[in-house]
Amino acid sequence: MGEAASKESEARKIPVYIMGKRYEVPEALTIMKAVEYAGYQYIRGAGCRGGICGACATVYRREGDYKIYAGLACQTVVEPGMHLTQIPFYPALRAPYDYAGIEPKAEVIAELYPELFRCVACNACTKICPMDVQVLDYVSALKRGDIAAAAEISFDCIQCGLCASRCFGEIPQYHIAQLARRLWGGKLKPRSPHLAEMVENIEAGKYNDAVASLMAMNVDELKKAYTQREMEPAMSDEKWTPTNREGLLG
Ligand code: FES
Repeated sequence: MGEAASKESEARKIPVYIMGKRYEVPEALTIMKAVEYAGYQYIRGAGCRGGICGACATVYRREGDYKIYAGLACQTVVEPGMHLTQIPFYPALRAPYDYAGIEPKAEVIAELYPELFRCVACNACTKICPMDVQVLDYVSALKRGDIAAAAEISFDCIQCGLCASRCFGEIPQYHIAQLARRLWGGKLKPRSPHLAEMVENIEAGKYNDAVASLMAMNVDELKKAYTQREMEPAMSDEKWTPTNREGLLG
């Protein structure tokens, strides 16, 4: 028996209930791995496996606990006696709009999503959010007409839809927040002069030679260039700038 196989056989098994059926799974697995261990194959409800894409929203109850909990299957570790099921998709209406043609105004958001004002501030949306986004706070910001605040507060939203699943007011919060971020990022936020300068430089061919020399490298040379590149220190109080700001290959 290989080392990995013997470790698996040593792992303590715990009972979990997946869509009502009991399975014994190793205790350290995430819900996603436990579901696969139990013999299911994901064809929906899994994407990045890293807590980013929002595809794996899961609801569960703990043994003997009346409350319903939620989490991401790829990030939440199984517990003994957990009853769980995954929500591969949560149907919530997304208002149709032509992004290029709409004005970045709070009134536009209110017209597209009048249900925003059905919010009774119960906070169930915030309590269920697996990313700890303060959902009620951004909904309140949008009711006040503050698109910038809504975009900022909802920045970590991964569109799993769990907020909408718990909403008394039947509000598709995550779709509305996405529109706020689009309007803020694309139409309201001041342009970065650095970005404009960089685009200008690229279009003027300033980096053509550097790109050509990268393209001419073999894989080992590329790896060496990558690992030996000048990097910003992970922890530093000093204001850092690269010594070579002219080319890609510092
Ligand atoms: S699979 Fe992407 S967040 Fe879990």
